[in-house]
Amino acid sequence: FSQKMVKICCIGAGYVGGPTMAVIALKCPAIEVVVVDISKPRIDAWNSDQLPIYEPGLDEVVKECRGRNLFFSTDVEKHVAEADIIFVSVNTPTKTRGLGAGKAADLTYWESAARMIADVSKSDKIVVEKSTVPVKTAEAIEKILTHNSKGINYQILSNPEFLAEGTAIKDLFKPDRVLIGGRETPEGKKAVQALKEEVYAHWVPEDRIITTNLWSAELSKLAANAFLAQRISSVNAISALCEATGANVSEVAYAVGKDTRIGPKFLNASVGFGGSCFQKDILNLVYICECNGLPEVANYWKQVIKINDYQKSRFVNRVVSSMFNTVSGKKIAILGFAFKKDTGDTRETPAIDVCHGLLGDKAQISIYDPQVTEDQIQRDLSMGKFDWDHPRHLQPTSPTAFKQVSVVWDAYEATKGAHGLCILTEWDEFKTLDYQRIFDNMQKPAFVFDGRNVVDPEKLREIGFIVYSIGKPL
Ligand code: NAD
Ligand code: UGA
Repeated sequence: FSQKMVKICCIGAGYVGGPTMAVIALKCPAIEVVVVDISKPRIDAWNSDQLPIYEPGLDEVVKECRGRNLFFSTDVEKHVAEADIIFVSVNTPTKTRGLGAGKAADLTYWESAARMIADVSKSDKIVVEKSTVPVKTAEAIEKILTHNSKGINYQILSNPEFLAEGTAIKDLFKPDRVLIGGRETPEGKKAVQALKEEVYAHWVPEDRIITTNLWSAELSKLAANAFLAQRISSVNAISALCEATGANVSEVAYAVGKDTRIGPKFLNASVGFGGSCFQKDILNLVYICECNGLPEVANYWKQVIKINDYQKSRFVNRVVSSMFNTVSGKKIAILGFAFKKDTGDTRETPAIDVCHGLLGDKAQISIYDPQVTEDQIQRDLSMGKFDWDHPRHLQPTSPTAFKQVSVVWDAYEATKGAHGLCILTEWDEFKTLDYQRIFDNMQKPAFVFDGRNVVDPEKLREIGFIVYSIGKPL
């Protein structure tokens, strides 16, 4: 590419496409980056002052590059046709129907992107899988492209993204590693080098850029998410035993994590993991194992999800059983609805399952989250499992608002007159609330169920609360 300006087009302006491309544009001023999407509201938002996703540090990066070498557009075909490198970061949800429903990845969006690339391309392209896809997807994409190629050369690379929401910009600036997989042919190796040198080497140290074959790169992404989720299910499984024995999960996790072979990170017991990817990617891994005749391996990973579901229902059971076995007609405050702090994202948030559980027992719930709107919450609570990532299911149906649910913009409002309060997201502001004031305005006995180990149970007990914290002595 060295003679001319490299042009990048990214298909999919979501949580991954938006931030990753903004950072590439920032770090590579000589590259023109256009992010395209079929959703006009999303592109409009990227072009406005109110970006479609909340992510610390993102505004500054977008402000610096937008209009310089970073552009957002709905003119998908034009920008795909002009690009040298095409990143595809469309959503890859769990299938809800047909073969593999409830497990396999739905590659509808991916396939339609690939067919469109084949339709409009007039010059050679490097097509980069940025989305998380089943291992061997590159083979399918390659077939679609080469069987429709009109003599154009395509190289498919796998370059999975490891950023976490809430820290996306930090993760992109200083990634633990960048992984690039490609074909082991001379053309494949050239394409890997091009992505490495033209793009990532501008800010990522050489020893952090790993190159592998295509299948290793695709599988490493699924494996990394499975390992991460497995740590959480492991500590959550131990949290149940802590509650039964008087051990304290924070002390256990600290002692275990001090072993340098285990390491201290990602060992916080919780009400369960959420987010758009852990469950989806593990289900996908399970399905691939089953398809490859490896039921034992499939069952091993399935257990990570089972423990996560168990942890969520255990939490609901604890709430209901502590409150004299019924929450019917009682007001329960929910503090935090996002799947983790510093994001407004609610995809697969454990709060959805907890709220469903409490609503099933006829509670009145009052929800406060600093970043999530009432609309979003009502939509989340009225949607079926896995439907959230399938826009076609969501089309005209405006959500049937739950009468038992109110959404308020303040923790004190949410807890006023409540019998119990549940902390479901670890927002920093929940650590410093005036719990005396909250206690004074609640029904007695006043219960606190801390699903994130945010509060100091002893201090709250001094105020007069009955406190239940995950994995802590009662
Ligand atoms: P997202 O739903 O936020 O964004 C996907 C976007 O693609 C949507 O805006 C959608 O309108 C658009 N799209 C779908 N089909 C299209 C088409 N044919 N043409 C143009 N645009 C199209 O999803 P996301 O969270 O950004 O995730 C994308 C992928 O990245 C997934 O495979 C996910 O597993 C993976 N991933 C996500 C994260 C994360 O933190 N969210 C991290 C790493 C990897
Ligand atoms: C996760 C991975 O961390 C990223 O590396 C990956 O790129 C991404 O999935 C993806 O593929 O989508 P993300 O889901 O954004 O990132 O956020 P995490 O920080 O991993 O948290 C996931 C869930 O686990 C959250 O609900 C969080 O609260 C929970 N969690 C995390 C715990 O309960 N305990 C912990 O110790 C850590």
